[in-house]
Amino acid sequence: MDPKKIAEIEIDVLLEAIRLRYDYDFKSYARASLNRRVQSLLTKENLEMPYQLIPRILYDHTIFDKFLSEMSVTVTEFFRDPPFFKAIQDIIFPVLQTYPYVKIWHAGCATGEEVYSLAILLKEAGLLNKAKIYATDYNKRSLEVAKEGIYSTSNLEANKKAYLNAGGEKSLDHYYTEQYEAFKFQDSLKENMTFAYHNLVKDGVFGEMNIVICRNVLIYFDKDLQDHAFTLFNSSLVRKGFMCLGSKETIDYSAIKDQYETFSKPNKIFRRKN
Ligand SMILES: C[S@@+](CC[C@H](N)C(=O)[O-])C[C@H]1O[C@@H](n2cnc3c(N)ncnc32)[C@H](O)[C@@H]1O
Repeated sequence: MDPKKIAEIEIDVLLEAIRLRYDYDFKSYARASLNRRVQSLLTKENLEMPYQLIPRILYDHTIFDKFLSEMSVTVTEFFRDPPFFKAIQDIIFPVLQTYPYVKIWHAGCATGEEVYSLAILLKEAGLLNKAKIYATDYNKRSLEVAKEGIYSTSNLEANKKAYLNAGGEKSLDHYYTEQYEAFKFQDSLKENMTFAYHNLVKDGVFGEMNIVICRNVLIYFDKDLQDHAFTLFNSSLVRKGFMCLGSKETIDYSAIKDQYETFSKPNKIFRRKN
């Protein structure tokens, strides 16, 4: 048998071991990217073949944590794709202004940058007080960082620029205090935020949301898992609710596409029909 095929079998067995031991199911993650991440962990652990990871992961939680952080790809940034945040203000906020309260779900929020970015813009629009923000991820370490709301100043200049490009009205430093090489957001931004563990593979609906934001997560899923997530988002959204995806993601090939209108094509904003 082709050694590549054997390595694929080893990865299947590894994924099954992880599912049974840790209840994380990666079978429906996009395979090419998953294979690269397994390879990357093998290199870091000085191992050669995927099967060698099986006993390590079964008996050592810290190796599983490393696997999870490989799989999580927690890359994120403040005001990522500023035109998206500008579009939210220009075309979604006027709708939200007419509502008595607003519920928002950030699915796959990583370390929280996306959540604080939107909270700042909500505050500037006078919407933060009536917003309830749920931010979820399956990576508990990322959630801890998100809850703290403390970030390195290393990209601060780029963050400030992105905030202005996103249509921010003030200056980003209005919202944080700086200490040594870190900055911490004001607690008032966090008042209506709840960070929680939620795994899009196996956990349920998040209830009566006006906006679901799931950006740069579905690209790591295969078609079936994407459809599963879309069904979950669809059941979580109220009628006329908004679904926001990442720049490389679309609802177009999903089973729920007919229930949505495209609200902003370039910014991947979709709206549930009535
Ligand atoms: C690239 S980050 C995107 C962060 C942010 N949404 C953004 O666009 O900048 C992808 C996030 O998806 C999370 N993720 C991957 N699979 C997940 C799953 N099954 N359930 C919940 N979160 C998941 C990862 O842990 C990671 O934090």
